Amino acid sequence: MNKISLQLVTHDNFTAVTKLSDTLTDDQKKCVATNVKSLAQAYLSPNDAWPRAIYLNDTPIGFIMLDLNPDDIPNNEKAYYLWRYMIAFDYQGKGYGKEVLDLIVNKCKEDQKDFLYTSCVMENDMPYQFYLKYGFIDTGVLEEDEEVLKLDISSKI
Ligand SMILES: CC(C)(COP(=O)(O)OP(=O)(O)OC[C@H]1O[C@@H](n2cnc3c(N)ncnc32)[C@H](O)[C@@H]1OP(=O)(O)O)[C@@H](O)C(=O)NCCC(=O)NCCS
Repeated sequence: MNKISLQLVTHDNFTAVTKLSDTLTDDQKKCVATNVKSLAQAYLSPNDAWPRAIYLNDTPIGFIMLDLNPDDIPNNEKAYYLWRYMIAFDYQGKGYGKEVLDLIVNKCKEDQKDFLYTSCVMENDMPYQFYLKYGFIDTGVLEEDEEVLKLDISSKI
């Protein structure tokens, strides 16, 4: 059975993880920074960034990074921010993206966070529709040209 897991980025998988960015279409590349840039930012913010490689069994197929201490969260809500997220082109549309969000929701629950925020560019249906379908709501707030979306963790059983 296929198993999705989140694993540390190490010397062993660094090259494979960074190469995944090359698989995205030109449109998709506008939606998410390269994984190498995200990992550089994680190095600069070690207390905030939570970067993980997404594995399908033993194969790295994507990358995700949370901000564990996001600024600008309203009303002192306990929240994480989904900072970066990508699945390699050949593995998209197979339900893995949704499965990864389930793992992140579990982490939010374990860490007693009430909300997960993210933001996305609005040029195309994706990834906006993907997030709405999962349960995120559109806050109507625009930040740096990206629409801010919010997931109520308690809405996910
Ligand atoms: C966004 C992304 C992570 C989604 O991962 P994925 O594995 O392709 O998504 P899934 O296959 O799990 O799809 C989940 C749901 O979204 C829906 N969906 C997928 N593409 C869609 C589209 N173009 N329009 C509407 N819904 C769509 C699927 O139908 C599925 O719904 P279902 O479970 O009811 O069938 C992935 O496509 C990706 O990496 N895109 C490029 C980078 C990017 O945009 N990252 C986000 C930065 S904010």
